[in-house]
Amino acid sequence: MGWGGGCHSALLDIQKQLRAQISNFTFNLGFSGKFYHTGTVEEDEGDDLLLKYVDEFWWFPHMWSHMQPHLFHNESSLLEQMVLNKEFALDHNIPVDMGYAVAPHHSGVYPVHLQLYEAWRRVWNIRVTSTEEYPHLKPARYRKGFVHNSIMVLPRQTCGLFTHTIYYKEYPGGPKELDKSIHGGELFLTLLLNPISIFMTHLSNYGNDRLGLYTFVHLASFLRSWTNLKLHTLPPLQLAHKYFQLFPEQRNPLWQNPCDDKRHKDIWSKEKTCDRLPKFMVIGPQKTGTTALYLFLLMHPSISSNFPSPKTYEEVQFFNTNNYHKGIDWYMEFFPVPSNVSTDFLFEKSANYFPSEESPRRGAALLPKAKIITLLINPADRAYSWYQHQRAHEDHAALRFTFYDVISARPGAPAELRSLQSRCLIPGLYSTHLDRWLTHYPANQVMIIDGHQLRTDPAAVMDEVQKFLGVTPHFNYSQALTFDPQKGFWCQLLEGGKTKCLGKSKGRKYPPMDPEARAFLSRYYREHNVELSKLLHRLGQPLPSWLREELQKITFASMSRG
Ligand code: A3P
Repeated sequence: MGWGGGCHSALLDIQKQLRAQISNFTFNLGFSGKFYHTGTVEEDEGDDLLLKYVDEFWWFPHMWSHMQPHLFHNESSLLEQMVLNKEFALDHNIPVDMGYAVAPHHSGVYPVHLQLYEAWRRVWNIRVTSTEEYPHLKPARYRKGFVHNSIMVLPRQTCGLFTHTIYYKEYPGGPKELDKSIHGGELFLTLLLNPISIFMTHLSNYGNDRLGLYTFVHLASFLRSWTNLKLHTLPPLQLAHKYFQLFPEQRNPLWQNPCDDKRHKDIWSKEKTCDRLPKFMVIGPQKTGTTALYLFLLMHPSISSNFPSPKTYEEVQFFNTNNYHKGIDWYMEFFPVPSNVSTDFLFEKSANYFPSEESPRRGAALLPKAKIITLLINPADRAYSWYQHQRAHEDHAALRFTFYDVISARPGAPAELRSLQSRCLIPGLYSTHLDRWLTHYPANQVMIIDGHQLRTDPAAVMDEVQKFLGVTPHFNYSQALTFDPQKGFWCQLLEGGKTKCLGKSKGRKYPPMDPEARAFLSRYYREHNVELSKLLHRLGQPLPSWLREELQKITFASMSRG
């Protein structure tokens, strides 16, 4: 069945023998039905013997023809292959309800091939799989699990046996290398340091010199002699539940760029490209001028953005929401294939990335080289603009309560008011959020723009942005933008002298903030503004004028107190 030769009752005998040291020890055998009875006479007899004892083992489906799933772009051809293998299993009384499968050569599991997960669920109701590739093959001690599309992916360990290591005497480096690994070396340490270990070897290691049996029998007895470890075997589904009970934090995956790891690139569909990823991101926060910056960027001939999302006001909102769990294929679908990878700049703007706990870590894992642009205005003005925005969207609490009510709400206040309050105020804790981004991205990849300056002198800001990005050709924004007195903002200058301004929802007309609220917010953000000034100082960046004004208020306040 595609597992090579020499397999016979030794497998069963050793299984029995191992059960004395590992409770419930059971071999879990993978099958690719297409290769059933395609070996030598002896191998075919081995196939029959295994099937004769079908109930003694656990079984999991490989692919029907051992093809790598990532080579199938089309889900239905993947389904067909799986159905063939399932029919084979049913014909030969192989159980089909273990919920575990393994992909040939790790293909499709990580980097995730969405089609594989979908087909596995549909044909086999697969709930568990394992791989050596997440997050990377090496170092082995960093391997982890994750859950995707309700399939639990467990880390698989390496035991040092491969298709080419079938003879004891010919073991790479000599047989003592294998023995060293078992007797206190790498394999022993793998078992010692991982509460759950999954190993997979090829059936050729159970024929020939039977190194598979040799290795595990010796490993078990070495462990028994030198440790107090109790070894158990669990069926895959129970094992997976146990794993994520032990390591609940591993449930959420952290996606990386498949092209940054040669092995991952090799098992990444040729129909997919890593070029459909942004070179930079505008991360917000909301109401600081992000839409203006976004539209000005798009005026540049070498810069393009994602296709709009119909769901989230055009933004993709991948890193900060559950969209992240849809995987990078989903994300990349939002981007065009650039016509010239080296000169074209793809970007996306999602203004909620800035205050999000998860976004910096997730961003840096997938886009470690990306540049990050954030806009800051006085957090008090930001809060007020955001409140006006909620009123314009007829948010119930925003219509019911005054701005002062919102910002000054106390812990016992109605839940909708408290929720509005935190969404209003938290993004303005700039230094906390920036610190998080700077933990994951080097400072020279992060640009902090003064949003007030973008509003009053956009051409100067856009010159700086172009320099920071290193984008060519230089685009002359002072010719392309014009101040529109009616709008009260800078707008795009069209041919024939007409202007194209941002929509009604940007640059709204509303009464100025009342002084009481401003004083409250100056106090509220005082510490954070001080921290922000220290942070900008550390980065060698000038303080925006609004920040200097806020710091001066503190000096005045302490002078008048003194
Ligand atoms: P207001 O509508 O409160 O004035 P965002 O796009 O991040 O939601 O930010 C909206 C804010 O961008 C607006 O808030 C406005 O002050 C500011 N802005 C900056 N430059 C602008 C421009 N050229 N046109 C319109 N709004 C601009």
